[in-house]
Amino acid sequence: MAATRRTIGKILDDRLSDHMFIVVSQAEPYIHNYVKDVVKTTRGTGGLVAAMEPLLKANKGLWIAHGRGAADREVVDEHDKIKMPPGKKAYILKRIWVNKKNYRGWYYGFSNEALWPLCHNVFERPTFRQSDWEAYVEVNQQFADAILAETEGKKAVVWIQDYHLALVPQMLKDKRPDLMVGYFWHIPWPLADTFRICPWSKEVLEGMLGNELIGFQRHTYCRNFLTSVSKELEAKVDFDAMTVTYNNKTSYIRHFPISIDYQAVRQSSEKNKKFGKSYIKQTVTGRYEYLSVGVDRIEYTKGLPERIKAIDRFLEKYPEYQEKFVHINILVPSRTLIKRYEDLDRELETLIENVNFKYATANWQPIHTIKESLPPSEVYKYYKSANVAMVTSLADGMNLVAKEYVAAGPDDGVLILSEQTGAADELHDALIVNPYDIERLADSIKLALEMPRDERKRRMEALRTVVAENNVYTWASRFIHNIFDINSHLELRTENGNPATSG
Ligand code: G6P
Repeated sequence: MAATRRTIGKILDDRLSDHMFIVVSQAEPYIHNYVKDVVKTTRGTGGLVAAMEPLLKANKGLWIAHGRGAADREVVDEHDKIKMPPGKKAYILKRIWVNKKNYRGWYYGFSNEALWPLCHNVFERPTFRQSDWEAYVEVNQQFADAILAETEGKKAVVWIQDYHLALVPQMLKDKRPDLMVGYFWHIPWPLADTFRICPWSKEVLEGMLGNELIGFQRHTYCRNFLTSVSKELEAKVDFDAMTVTYNNKTSYIRHFPISIDYQAVRQSSEKNKKFGKSYIKQTVTGRYEYLSVGVDRIEYTKGLPERIKAIDRFLEKYPEYQEKFVHINILVPSRTLIKRYEDLDRELETLIENVNFKYATANWQPIHTIKESLPPSEVYKYYKSANVAMVTSLADGMNLVAKEYVAAGPDDGVLILSEQTGAADELHDALIVNPYDIERLADSIKLALEMPRDERKRRMEALRTVVAENNVYTWASRFIHNIFDINSHLELRTENGNPATSG
């Protein structure tokens, strides 16, 4: 049965009663910035905050993250802590201050110019700089020291998130072998021969093997990780049991596809009465019959140029859709200090301008963009108004936009989904596409628009069942159960949350 926001808190009550629960991530659950000299709090987007908050609230736990908001320092106490969520004060957020030099080397450098392209493998060459690596080690140590200070004399479960902190687990275990440490790697893990081009691949793997449990989005990433370890370290790798034993310590490798708070997104969308053509008028001047949406960070792994080229080809090949079809892309600026991101932003602008120039008429243009980070409730209005959502990532650990469209979109909406996403493993009733194949991608838009309504509804219903069942709480509770089961030497639970049957 799917877990819910209410039932997940009970998991910690039952299993964690005498343990502290700590979540560690680069990104903060809440960020403080100045808006016209007034401090404004913004909640982090994505499934992670939604999933972690009920757990932290139940346990009065601790979230440790890098403070990057301009007003972050102003609101914390002398221990760099602030009670969260705003107004409720149910758990503590502790902020780590990373100096500018290390921020560039750790976050922009090794995390996002080396590990990110290395793991996504979309023909974007990773950049390995000695100085970035040194900053990565230093900042990881800074996080580990903070965790060690907070857990001194206490039993604790530490759940670390994503590729910015790969060395933290072993740094913790060196000092506190009794801590329970788990990791969720949100992005892909590449083929072993790709990963090994990283000059510090062994160090990254050794850091990761400080964990008792390492979670990936897809089974293939688990296999890739096991192969990386088997090729690079003198470790015992068991591909059937999916375990690694290294320096007399065993790590379990499992896949846990992340998800969204399905009920919350669905309800928010159901309640909302502002959608459809009257709402879309604020973005689209002129008429249209069919609306397609995309929501992405300006990110080279998302297949954005491919999407625009496919729309161009669709309108060229099927001119009857000119003046009828409109695509709106919400584009969120991201990692803007990295040149590749700036270049992509310019490339996209030129591409879009060219397509619009080619087809626009007096009162219609095919592509519209909204370049800002809209609050989720606003984004859901676009989903609800859209006949089609396009997710065309060239590589993507999961892609939660796909799941959000399923929850918030219309009952007869069609999801066009890249086969290169973790979401494609679950969302079989989407129109699955190869984002590199522009011709087929163009055809899939036509297919989506011409699909009989009964079929669209049937597919959407099937997709909703999948996302409702594996929601973000099911994801988090499976992980927590697994880490406790490992420590109690119990058999690990399977994907549906039940203890695995042997054989
Ligand atoms: C991906 C990563 C996250 C990251 C997010 C936004 O989803 O897996 O760890 O927080 O992108 O990227 P940013 O660099 O803006 O935090």
